[in-house]
Amino acid sequence: GAPVEVDAGKLAAGEMTTVEWKGKPVWILRRTPQMLATLEGHEGRLVDPASGQAQQPGYAANRHRSVKPEFLVVIGICTHLGCSPSEKFAPGAAGGMKDDWPGGFLCPCHGSIFDLAGRVFRNQPAPTNLEVPPYKWLSDARLLIG
Ligand code: FES
Repeated sequence: GAPVEVDAGKLAAGEMTTVEWKGKPVWILRRTPQMLATLEGHEGRLVDPASGQAQQPGYAANRHRSVKPEFLVVIGICTHLGCSPSEKFAPGAAGGMKDDWPGGFLCPCHGSIFDLAGRVFRNQPAPTNLEVPPYKWLSDARLLIG
């Protein structure tokens, strides 16, 4: 698949867009400071908090799993059986037993929950964190995926 160029600068804070790359959905989420704050404090409840087992480029091996902390770039395919998780950004949005979830992404197929860096919580069907595709910034606003 050819690389895909995205104008990420037009995303408002808190906004997400999806582009297709190699037939896969790639999410670009412009995280607010509040969203970034939700990445702290639940490391002990994650399968792989440092994403050592995750498919991701070396430059995503950091706390926010991205080149720029603000922008999450991740493949929107559940690592369980390949459904597309939906955005449920708000804490508690999954309801019921997942009330203490800090928010992130929820897979509708079998209920796996991920945080806003695509890291999966323990005791979910999905075995690993969401994959980060190869990408680079061409300028402050323009992103090249692939
Ligand atoms: Fe996502 Fe099963 S495909 S939880």
